[in-house]
Amino acid sequence: MSPPNRTVLSHSTRAALAAGLAAPLIAAAGGTTPAQQLARFATAAGIQGQAERGRAFFIGHHGGQWSCASCHGNPPTAAGRHASTGKSIDPLAPGANAASFSEAAKVDKWFRRNCKDVLQRECSAAEKADVLAYLISLDR
Ligand code: HEC
Repeated sequence: MSPPNRTVLSHSTRAALAAGLAAPLIAAAGGTTPAQQLARFATAAGIQGQAERGRAFFIGHHGGQWSCASCHGNPPTAAGRHASTGKSIDPLAPGANAASFSEAAKVDKWFRRNCKDVLQRECSAAEKADVLAYLISLDR
């Protein structure tokens, strides 16, 4: 067996970068992207996320004390403030915070926790897809 041809490998790596694959390579460092998370929930729900529905959901109180905006702000493009502890929260909108929606486990953990705080239940995949569509729309 002959060793791999390093020259060919480095050429193909450079070609891949030149072909515009740099962004996915960078995104892979955190595990995922906001667009991939939107696609994940939209596929699970069998719907397209809808930004306006997501906005209404985000600012709605759903019969409880808090909305999503109570801690994340309205719109969530600046640092939020925890409604009970007063601690600062990094901006939730990915356009204002590159770390937002870059790690699937973190997304799941906080959706679970925050939805229980706001709705006294977990959010559905459709609701998550709408919230993602709304948050991504704030980039523009
Ligand atoms: C009581 C305060 C509070 C409320 C209400 C709240 N959140 Fe959060 N949320 C947090 C905190 C704190 C974090 C963690 C921030 C961090 O570690 O960067 C967080 C993180 C998140 C994340 C993870 C984002 C990431 O970094 O990838 C998502 C998604 C999220 N919240 C969605 C929601 C949604 C949807 C609602 C409404 C149903 C909501 N939150 C309501 C406090 C809140």
